[in-house]
Parts: sequence; C-alpha cells; structure tokens
Amino acid sequence: MQHWNSYWSGTKSLNSFAEGEHSQGYVGKIASFWQNIFNTLPQLATILDLASGNGGLAVLAKQFNSGFDVFASDAANIDPLLLYFPSDPSYQHLKSINFYGNTLSENLVFDSGKFDYVISQFGFEYAESAAALLEVNRVLKSGGEFIALIHHQDSFISADCRLGLKVINNLNQVDGLLTQLQDFGRFCQTMENKNHLSPKQQIQFKQKNVNLLQLFKEEQSKCSSEDELDWYNLLVKELLPAIINWQNTDEKKVIKIIENLHSFQRRLQDQNMASQSKLDIEGIKLLTNNNWSSCKFDVVNLRNGVLCWVMRAQK
Ligand SMILES: C[S@@+](CC[C@H](N)C(=O)[O-])C[C@H]1O[C@@H](n2cnc3c(N)ncnc32)[C@H](O)[C@@H]1O
Repeated sequence: MQHWNSYWSGTKSLNSFAEGEHSQGYVGKIASFWQNIFNTLPQLATILDLASGNGGLAVLAKQFNSGFDVFASDAANIDPLLLYFPSDPSYQHLKSINFYGNTLSENLVFDSGKFDYVISQFGFEYAESAAALLEVNRVLKSGGEFIALIHHQDSFISADCRLGLKVINNLNQVDGLLTQLQDFGRFCQTMENKNHLSPKQQIQFKQKNVNLLQLFKEEQSKCSSEDELDWYNLLVKELLPAIINWQNTDEKKVIKIIENLHSFQRRLQDQNMASQSKLDIEGIKLLTNNNWSSCKFDVVNLRNGVLCWVMRAQK
C-alpha cells in the first residue's frame, strides 16, 4: 500500500489518471456518467465513495449537490486536505467530505445500513471481490444501491497500462539503465570539487556519460510503437534530471528517483491485476446471488474503444 500512500500524499490530483494534471477531478464521459446518476438520487442521500483515493468522485458528488452526505474510504493513508489551500476550488468540497484512510473495502468501519448508495470509480476491483461485496452489502440500507465503474481487461486504459509495464520492466533489467544510473549517482557523490575535475575524473565522467547515453539509446530502440515511445519519454523525463543536474546528484537522490519509478510500476501492476475479464465479471455476478435483489453489468464504450464495466447492484 506504500505505493498508493506516496502517490496520494504527493499529488494534488483528485484521481489516479493524468499524473497530477487533473486536480479538479473527473471531467468528460466519466463525469457525465456520474452526474446522470446523481441526478436520480434523493436530495439528502448518504453516499460512500469506496476506494476513493483523494476523492475525485466524492468531490464530483458534492459539486453536483452539496446536500449529499458524502463519505470516502480508501486503504491508503489518504488526507487530501493536507495538500489543498482554502483558495483552491475543491477545498470547500473536500472539507465537507468525511474521509476514512487506512480502510480496506473488505473491512469497512461504518455501521450496518448507513448508506443509501455506495459508489466506486476504478476502486472496488482492487479489493478481494467476495469480502468487499459482503461489506458493501452490509453498509447499504435495504433497497440501497452499489454502482461501480470497473476496469475492463480489454479497455484502452488497461492496454495502455500493460504497455507502460512493458517499458518499465525493460528499464528495470538487472545491470541495466537504472543500475548504471545509481552507479553514476555514487560517482558524482565521490567528486569533491565538481567545478575542477581531475584529468582522471574527467575521463571517468565522460566514460560513464557515454555508457548511459548508449543504454538510453538501446532502451529507446526497444520501443516498437509510437505509444511505447510515449511511455519511454514519460519515464525517461523522470530520470534525466539526475544526469543533467549532475553537480547536485548523489546516490540518495538517484535511489529516490528509482523508488518513484518502482512505485509507479506497482500502481500499474495493481491496475493490471484489477482489470476484469468477462469471466471475472461472471464470478462477481455469482457472488451477488444471495443477498442482493438484482445485479447488472454493462460495458461503457468511447470512440477509441472500451472504457470500462458498469456494475449496478441493488440490496
Ligand atoms: C485506481 S485508484 C482509484 C482511486 C479513485 N477512486 C479514483 O477514481 O481516482 C485505486 C485505489 O484503490 C485503493 N485500494 C487498493 N486496494 C484496496 C482495498 N483492498 N481496499 C480499499 N482500497 C483499496 C488504492 O489505495 C487506490 O487509491
């Protein structure tokens, strides 16, 4: 969970897309899907945003109707108000949401029958389905509804994550680019006067630079499509400062950069594991046979392909 803790505490993004660019939360098709749902809910509905992250969906609900009583839970140590200032547009909404960090969907801390609606945006599927469904059912009022957008194994989001993982895995190879980069950080650290390199240091410095450049080129040449190249450029953008600002580089800084990359890798791995095939969805349907009065799945499509599954289950 550390990878999610560090992501949510280090970004003003309200959702896990766009790596920090969308601090206002969801827009476009996803926003309009939820706004259409919110439009049908009672004015004073009590709502839980399950696996909320920094609360993109919870904020959307509050923006739609400030009368909703909104709660948000996530397994990560979320506390978005620490990142926002009162002048930020989302601040007042975030302030009115009851956030529960360190809360697994499989073990919710809320009283039974508390919520009219439990909603989830790319969150429910990260938990163990059977246990999470039991908990969602428990905290819903009788007649309450669970509505979730769920990652689809064939969505363009999942395909993009798989591509990102492939590129990160390449970068991560033993004795590959990252190992050499750490070695470069260690070397920079040993140079006392970085403005006056000795002739020996100059030769070593040049050699390490040439080696690194060669490794960057090799990695780049492994990219077999424009999309892979985009991923490569995105990831390399994080690594380059260690070389460009070599006078300030040391091993600790390089290790931090590599850790961030690994954290990103773990989030992509989670997404990959969480995306659901048709068979997985059949399995979830079976789980709702006993204590739910209905359960329905649909697929949301966009112009560029499948976006996700929609699950609607009534208690
Ligand atoms: C892709 S993010 C989605 C967050 C948010 N719903 C959004 O739309 O941005 C998945 C979230 O699931 C959370 N998570 C992973 N496993 C969980 C679990 N077992 N119980 C609750 N939350 C979990 C992660 O911490 C992460 O915040």
